[in-house]
Amino acid sequence: MTDSLTLDKPRRAPASQQNQNLPTPGLKGAETEITLTLDGQEVRVPPGTSILEAAQKLGTHIPTLCHHPDLCVAGVCRVCSVEVEGMRALQAACTFPVTAPIQVRTHSKKVRLARRHIVDLLLSDHYGECYSCRRNNNCELQSLAREYGVDMFRFGHPETPRHEIDTSSYSVVRDNNKCVMCRRCVRTCIDLQEVGTIEVLGRSDKSHIAPYLNKPLGSVVCINCGQCINRCPTGALHAQDYTDEVWAAIDDPTKHVVIQTAPSPRAAIGECFGLPPGRALTFELNTALKRAGFDRVFDTNFTADLTILEEGTELLIRLHKALKLGESVALPQFTSCSPGWVKYLEHFYPEYIPNLSSAKSPQQMFGAIIKSYYAKTHNIPAKDIVTVALMPCSAKKFECNRPEMDASGFKDVDYGLTTRELAKMIRESGIRLPDMPKTGFDTPFGTATGSGVIFGATGGVMEAALRSVIELVTGTKVEDLFAHADIIPVRGFEGIRYVELPIPAVGPVPALLADRFSSWDFLKGATLKVAVAHGTANAKKVMEDIKAGGPFSQCHFIEFMGCPGGCIGGGGQPIPTSPEIREARARAIYSEDSAYPVRKSHENPDVLKIYSEFLKEGPCGAKSHHLLHTHYTERGKYIE
Ligand code: SF4
Ligand code: SF4
Ligand code: SF4
Ligand code: FES
Repeated sequence: MTDSLTLDKPRRAPASQQNQNLPTPGLKGAETEITLTLDGQEVRVPPGTSILEAAQKLGTHIPTLCHHPDLCVAGVCRVCSVEVEGMRALQAACTFPVTAPIQVRTHSKKVRLARRHIVDLLLSDHYGECYSCRRNNNCELQSLAREYGVDMFRFGHPETPRHEIDTSSYSVVRDNNKCVMCRRCVRTCIDLQEVGTIEVLGRSDKSHIAPYLNKPLGSVVCINCGQCINRCPTGALHAQDYTDEVWAAIDDPTKHVVIQTAPSPRAAIGECFGLPPGRALTFELNTALKRAGFDRVFDTNFTADLTILEEGTELLIRLHKALKLGESVALPQFTSCSPGWVKYLEHFYPEYIPNLSSAKSPQQMFGAIIKSYYAKTHNIPAKDIVTVALMPCSAKKFECNRPEMDASGFKDVDYGLTTRELAKMIRESGIRLPDMPKTGFDTPFGTATGSGVIFGATGGVMEAALRSVIELVTGTKVEDLFAHADIIPVRGFEGIRYVELPIPAVGPVPALLADRFSSWDFLKGATLKVAVAHGTANAKKVMEDIKAGGPFSQCHFIEFMGCPGGCIGGGGQPIPTSPEIREARARAIYSEDSAYPVRKSHENPDVLKIYSEFLKEGPCGAKSHHLLHTHYTERGKYIE
């Protein structure tokens, strides 16, 4: 096995992926650390470290607004202003590189007054009332106003909105009345995601954030990832909120309202109730949802397992065609469960749509199963069922509104809720989530596996697929090849990972796939080449490599996730986000996986039951194809 394949750094790497420390000419051969004195305290830092980083090392708080740990430095807000001895003007701590011993004052009178002045100025152009704002109590502008004693509008306050609210997107709502022009959203979209939907238009006091050509967000190339929302410090960006519609369904006695919950929101929703990142509230959430009025609570992991069987079988079919029958077939196969990634491909690489797995995402598979199998076996008319999905993702709202997602004759999923929206509903129900007793998921989809859980972290879909494919093909227990079935090489947060898995021997074809394959001989001696990429900037690198016929074009299977970190870093997750927060959520997911008694999708008894009772032709059979698979749309880069 090897994981040594890497891509050359592109000549024009986005700023967020470059070393942000500024060059320090003249320091060659000088001492490797510089002593900086911050408010009388000394700290030694490498040359080029910013004053802000040095302060963080000391545990000294310097307020920030345009700075974000995921993004390149912008230095536009000046909230982090500090006094540097010998310099007349205040300096921005986030952009000031330490190249010589300096004395810094972080909270002198001059600094405090300047910061209050900046916040006053921001508020003089800020229309909005905190008590009716989605970011109330979770807003960096509000915190700054509190921190700097802003108790009146010294420079006035707008009485009326100046900007129309843009609600044109299924996923993201833009309210420029609350924008502080920090440009975090622009850097997120251009640098972190490399989509480039939003930019700064106009000059001086006319400058504002807007999508391409000032068009509504819903009509330009946006992948709905919501990463801009996660990094916006104020209520200027938020997700489309369908909680009123869900309450209406719950309050309607003629409706049977079911909700599926995905593992990533369960690992993060505690943050909305004051818990530190990394504590999953899966079973407390089941109780809360029942008390809030949902009729059934199901585990999306069930259809994550179903996805593995459908997508894994599809991969084996493609490999059979390529290696045994010599047919021309689209390889590598790309995963299709991240709707942000899928839309990115439809816009930027539509010629590779045949490479996308046709398997629907677990969210959509669940909707289709509920409105067909569940409706039939429970004698509930599908028209009276309302399916809700708790997802970490704002792009899922777009996905459930794709017109092709209605194979049961009804919309697969009626409403997608993000983690933040569900937390709001739970609070409205008067429930303190962390205090809830634990209850299990409802039948008939009550059994899930650890494989379904790890879908939430980058590399998780690949690991789940490999656990099943390796075992089904080789006949060898995956635990005999990887301790505890943990396929460590595909895990982690490196932007792109590559792994080779030799298949020296094959076993008999298991009963579930016997109608489709007579033997695995075509895989004997082959080396399975797989890769993982998360965040669309990394996806772009892999796609450009494939286009150029580079090493990734030789892969058999590639997992792509639209969001940095995968679903745990989704655009619907609690705010704030940072690499440390995403890592803590991932740890919660992997520890939940290791606690499951069954950890491989093909061993999920409820999944095997649905194949024996309902999807009788097995994975990728005609019925599965009708209900659980989909097709995609060529969209292109330019939209009118
Ligand atoms: S964006 Fe922040 S400061 Fe503005 S109304 Fe919302 S909570 Fe208040
Ligand atoms: S949702 Fe994603 S693609 Fe759309 S504007 Fe925001 S960051 Fe850019
Ligand atoms: S929309 Fe939010 S992230 Fe973008 S510039 Fe305005 S305040 Fe900053
Ligand atoms: S946080 Fe330093 S200039 Fe904005």
